[in-house]
Amino acid sequence: MDDSRHAGFSTRAIHHGYDPLSHGGALVPPVYQTATYAFPSVEYGAACFAGEAAGHFYSRISNPTLALLEQRMASLEGGEAGLALASGMGAITSTLWTLLRPGDELIVGRTLYGCTFAFLHHGIGEFGVKIRHVDLNDLQALKAAITPKTRMIYCETPANPTMQLVDIAALAEAVQGHDLTLVVDNTYCTPYLQRPLELGADLVVHSATKYLSGHGDITAGLVVGRKALVDRIRLEGLKDMTGAVLSPHDASLLMRGIKTLALRMDRHCANAQQIAEFLLAQPQVELIRYPGLASFPQHELASRQMRLPGGMIAFELKGGIEAGRRFMNALQLFARAVSLGDAESLAQHPASMTHSSYTPKERAEHGISEGLVRLSVGLEDIEDLLGDVQQALRAC
Ligand SMILES: Cc1ncc(COP(=O)(O)O)c(C=O)c1O
Repeated sequence: MDDSRHAGFSTRAIHHGYDPLSHGGALVPPVYQTATYAFPSVEYGAACFAGEAAGHFYSRISNPTLALLEQRMASLEGGEAGLALASGMGAITSTLWTLLRPGDELIVGRTLYGCTFAFLHHGIGEFGVKIRHVDLNDLQALKAAITPKTRMIYCETPANPTMQLVDIAALAEAVQGHDLTLVVDNTYCTPYLQRPLELGADLVVHSATKYLSGHGDITAGLVVGRKALVDRIRLEGLKDMTGAVLSPHDASLLMRGIKTLALRMDRHCANAQQIAEFLLAQPQVELIRYPGLASFPQHELASRQMRLPGGMIAFELKGGIEAGRRFMNALQLFARAVSLGDAESLAQHPASMTHSSYTPKERAEHGISEGLVRLSVGLEDIEDLLGDVQQALRAC
């Protein structure tokens, strides 16, 4: 299907960029399991290397299976171009290594996934890039933090694990006219729930390990945005700096996952809404953060910015960290596991797991309380999930 940008989301997720009749009738796109490509002539090979011919020449740079995935994701995010990588961290590090130089300043949201935080403070931050954490909903504070050296603003919305949202359209408007790149990690939402590029962001990054692949069987990452930026990330960050290339087989599994993204997200969100409402009513629960609850402080922004409130819940029990441990150890259907967005429901403890790369002091500064429990609500039957949460609460 060639001109499918105007077709619906799921139609594009299934068909965009691929015509079976051009591939011997194969309904599923072929996996080009090759590292290198034969040139018809030396001159053609040289033209590929010089960027004068568009052919593939080495799979660390491009591959036809990945090219289809990249084109499809660009369509779904509403961007010009996409780039597939070996993991979310591969996507994030390739992007930041490409676009930042020593002496540059990077403004980031208050809370980030633990390895992104570690990369900023113990990776690129040690190579002369200055990192400032700012509440990106406080536009006065943001404007005060921007200097002529600020080259990038980076955020997650919802943030992992606090669920704090950033108003992307307001942020994009506030930084208009500055020579900087606005990057949004859209892992929690996927383009089905939220499209940052349409709200004014320059680049979207993803851990495609999560909802996009949806089955917990691969690690993958994606970058989507303006072609000129994505081309630079491919030719500098991916090719020369990280080499974080996705395997063609995993690209094929990721495209399989994306075909059912809308269906799965609808179910993740419906299940999470019911679990959040149930938890809210329980006496053992101290606080709960889920964008679909009227009590969520940014509920209005969530309804405006996200099609549905997502499948992730953060909550804390009155008994604090010990009660949280008892709750998680008592779960029988939810797996005690990190990652998110799988068909299986998962529960984890950010302070000792995904966000253990923060020191306790940093966690306190960034709003990650020690007792916080994070749920990734899966696709199981809601009665079974509610039953599991209910019986685990009895252990608290
Ligand atoms: C919001 C977010 N961004 C990025 C990543 C990193 O992705 P990956 O594990 O695929 O490298 C994660 C992983 O949990 C995440 O939750």
